[in-house]
Amino acid sequence: MSDLVLEARDLTRHYEIKRGLFGEKATVRALAGVSFALERGKTLAVVGESGCGKSTLARLVTMIEPPTAGELLLDGKPVANATRQELKQLRLGVQIVFQDPYGSLNPRRKVSSIIGEPLAINTGLSRAERDEQARAMMAKVGLRPEHFGRYPHMFSGGQRQRIAIARALVMNPKLLVADEPVSALDVSVQGKLLNLLLDLQDELKLAYLFISHDLSVVRHIASRVMVMYLGRAVEQGTRDAIFSAPRHPYTRALLASTPSTDPSHQRQRLPVQGELPSPLNPPPGCAFHRRCPFAIDICKLERPELREVEGRFVACHRAHEDLPAPTEARVAAA
Ligand SMILES: Nc1ncnc2c1ncn2[C@@H]1O[C@H](COP(=O)(O)OP(=O)(O)OP(=O)(O)O)[C@@H](O)[C@H]1O
Ligand code: SF4
Ligand SMILES: [Mg+2]
Repeated sequence: MSDLVLEARDLTRHYEIKRGLFGEKATVRALAGVSFALERGKTLAVVGESGCGKSTLARLVTMIEPPTAGELLLDGKPVANATRQELKQLRLGVQIVFQDPYGSLNPRRKVSSIIGEPLAINTGLSRAERDEQARAMMAKVGLRPEHFGRYPHMFSGGQRQRIAIARALVMNPKLLVADEPVSALDVSVQGKLLNLLLDLQDELKLAYLFISHDLSVVRHIASRVMVMYLGRAVEQGTRDAIFSAPRHPYTRALLASTPSTDPSHQRQRLPVQGELPSPLNPPPGCAFHRRCPFAIDICKLERPELREVEGRFVACHRAHEDLPAPTEARVAAA
């Protein structure tokens, strides 16, 4: 049996919107075709700036929305072919944890009922059986037994995320989609939560689709990394390939702007310069060309396809060249 939990083939999501005084129709290309595979027990981290399509991808993978084009396969089965009954089962196997630990839990429900609710809806278990499972799940995520009868407002942000994780895992999903799960938390709490996710993955052989705009968070948790820019993957590979030798100028600039946790290896803080273009009107050629210090003529005309370079996939016309560090290039261009 294949260990592939999830496969995305050219997954695409467009939104038709109306804008302007006369309500002209326009198309937002939120996700412009991404492909990847995720194995049991592994983590694919999806990284990129705000608006690059990360949450759109999360909504497609959790089947909250269907793709406009492309294909999603769960356990090797195309989701588009599933019957209503099958879709219900597939949805139970893919759960999600959101960024906001304050808005995502019902304030009027006790922890016991928040964690037990998926069991109440989807199983014929008795109240006592549900409580038992909810208590076991609470212990797994590091909550204490006395927390069982409390309300969400009595918890810190980190503890609330533990409650959200317990609720997400109570139906034994194979895949957990985590959309910026630690971004709202203090750095010290972030580390604890990431360690919890790693322990749970080890114990339950979970696959994670882990979404973040922060490469320093991803470094701790990823098996593979997909860097996105304006609805497309620009670099995809193992964590080591991406962190030790990034090849796409965008990945390199993102990494250069990420503070290192290793004090002997402090990086210069250098945010990627210029504004992210709009997915309503993506630039021709390489979508990054207006911000890229290495852009040449072809970059303005022809969109680079993903191709394999040094053991990972890169969408850049100059991916085979040994380009200087983005900082040096910018100084040279100044
Ligand atoms: N329902 C929708 N209708 C129209 N446009 C949308 C819709 N959902 C998302 N978009 C647009 O699609 C693009 C991608 O949005 P998305 O929320 O997926 O980005 P993101 O990477 O999750 O950003 P962030 O880091 O801010 O959460 C954005 O330009 C957004 O405005
Ligand atoms: S294709 Fe050109 S513009 Fe795009 S990242 Fe590569 S060098 Fe820069
Ligand atoms: Mg988002």
